[in-house]
Amino acid sequence: MPNTLLALNWKMNKTPTEARAWAEELKEKYVPVDGVELAVMAPALDLSSLAANLPAGVEFGGQDVSEHESGAYTGEISAAMLKDTGATYVVIGHSERRDYHQETDAQVAAKAKQAQANGLVPIVCVGEKLDVREKGEQVAFTLRQLEGSLAGVGAEVVVAYEPVWAIGTGKTATADDAEELAAAIREALKQQYGAKAGSIRILYGGSVKPENIAEICSKPNVNGALVGGASLKVPDVLGMNAALK
Ligand code: 13P
Repeated sequence: MPNTLLALNWKMNKTPTEARAWAEELKEKYVPVDGVELAVMAPALDLSSLAANLPAGVEFGGQDVSEHESGAYTGEISAAMLKDTGATYVVIGHSERRDYHQETDAQVAAKAKQAQANGLVPIVCVGEKLDVREKGEQVAFTLRQLEGSLAGVGAEVVVAYEPVWAIGTGKTATADDAEELAAAIREALKQQYGAKAGSIRILYGGSVKPENIAEICSKPNVNGALVGGASLKVPDVLGMNAALK
């Protein structure tokens, strides 16, 4: 089994100064857990501060990346720039990017390929909205989204299943809901990547917190979590990390 990945998504929170204070607090109190990797996905401006201040062994990454290599794309951040800060990961295709910036599956795949070409591991997000779940079409929808988002993408990837109705709402999918989708995603990954699919980590995201993380991550196909709200305060992060022991 691959290591469990506790991936934090700060979203648009924390200035570089606040990021530094968070990292210093983590450094004081962090106790690594065997088999658990901790990684912080932060705004690009915070990454240098994290590089300088995170405890050893804690990874970090970006929350989006350009689908282009470099050039006249004002405001964009390239994969090479993220890599140069020391980043390991980059979140791609988060539902907030898909919704507010109309990102398509094809763009998500192009970004993931750009990330891999520059030595970053993409964390590719998929997941259905409430209307799809209410129709019972969550598996078919999510697998279709996955297929488009991973077209031409190599096996050095992490997949995050984040049902949109569970993000920031306090409504967590049950551990069985998470496993239903994670198992279906695993099957699709086997079709695409063969034996390598066994070492691809599948995360669950959506209202994860210290109280529910252990149950969700105890499921056979769930290899970690992508956490928004509960990632902002160090004690919550320590609580989630300790709960994965
Ligand atoms: P919350 O943990 O705040 O529900 O956010 C989940 C998420 O979108 C992580 O990417």
